Amino acid sequence: MAKVILGIETSCDETAAAILQQKDNRITILSNVVASSASLQAKYGGIIPEQAARGQIRSIIPVIEETLREAMLAQGSPIGLDAIAVTQGPGLIGSLLVGVETAKTLALVWKKPLIPVNHLIGHFYANWITKHLPGVPQAQHHLEGEVPSFPCLGLLVSGGHTDLVLFKNHGKYTYLGGTRDDAAGECFDKCARLLGLSYPGGPEISKLAEKGDANSYPLPRPMMDSKDFDFSFSGLKTAVSNVITDKVNKFDLSASIEAAIVDVLVDKTIRAARKHNVEQIMIAGGVAANKSLVNRLQVTVDNLGIKLHVPPPNLCTDNGAMIAAAGFFSKPSQSTFKVEADPNLSLSQPLDVE
Ligand code: KG4
Ligand code: ZN
Repeated sequence: MAKVILGIETSCDETAAAILQQKDNRITILSNVVASSASLQAKYGGIIPEQAARGQIRSIIPVIEETLREAMLAQGSPIGLDAIAVTQGPGLIGSLLVGVETAKTLALVWKKPLIPVNHLIGHFYANWITKHLPGVPQAQHHLEGEVPSFPCLGLLVSGGHTDLVLFKNHGKYTYLGGTRDDAAGECFDKCARLLGLSYPGGPEISKLAEKGDANSYPLPRPMMDSKDFDFSFSGLKTAVSNVITDKVNKFDLSASIEAAIVDVLVDKTIRAARKHNVEQIMIAGGVAANKSLVNRLQVTVDNLGIKLHVPPPNLCTDNGAMIAAAGFFSKPSQSTFKVEADPNLSLSQPLDVE
């Protein structure tokens, strides 16, 4: 029997909703709408929480309506929802409240179960969505072995997080380590700012890096040789600020920054995979859209016989589809009224952590 979930995501500045269907162990997207204030971010060099929340209040209902309309067109009949999944945290409190309160209201009015989802776990579930491979007929998508199997090592690399997590099953995972200061995406963003590039900085640095020489600027690889699975990226940003002069070659420096971040991420991820003897690795979060990271990881895992799972770029950055996908594997709340936005939700202290 098919199961259909509406996913709502408003943890940062995106207002996102998606409707996904689970049928015969395949999870497909019926609709996926993301509204962001990218032009405002570029203007102010980042996100202003108050402004983000105000924008989300205006766009949440139109985004959900659009999601329902598109799903109906895709399916050719009215959508019967089985549940609503919503990002509970972590994130900006004003932004989270918009999504959570909207989802609660819809769940009560439509009499549907409400599934609270940890945004960080949600990112990983982008890997369970059936991939639309170019040239492969729709019916043959999601070939055997395409979705992760357990045990699976997860690397989350986003604007706010850099975490290594060992998944033993759905809802059963161990936190291995994470950043002690800046996240990988944050480092991309801060370095881009130093270079006068626009926000978000990751894609900008990545674009320039394609034309640069990664060996031009010797930058540190912070904590690469530490025995734990923690990261630190704030020193890299400081090192970058020290080499910037009027004559800096932006292409070469971008390539050097990208290489330093990718080196640390690949090295630690592979070390964790070998220590825990896993044959599956999945990556998630905005920085997982970075081609250099994906290419380097792919070459390394191929040599080790490890399978790498990478979501398509539009499902790496924040979206409602990953939240709906996580909903298929999570429990609904016993009481919709009791679901509260939690800006401090983490991977190291959730209820279902081992
Ligand atoms: O997952 P995400 O959309 O939001 C958070 O939950 O934080 O991640 C946003 C981050 C930003 O720091 C952005 O610069 C980075 O992902 N990012 C990239 C790329 N695309 C997005 N970093 C490097 N290369 C990219 N192609
Ligand atoms: Zn995110």
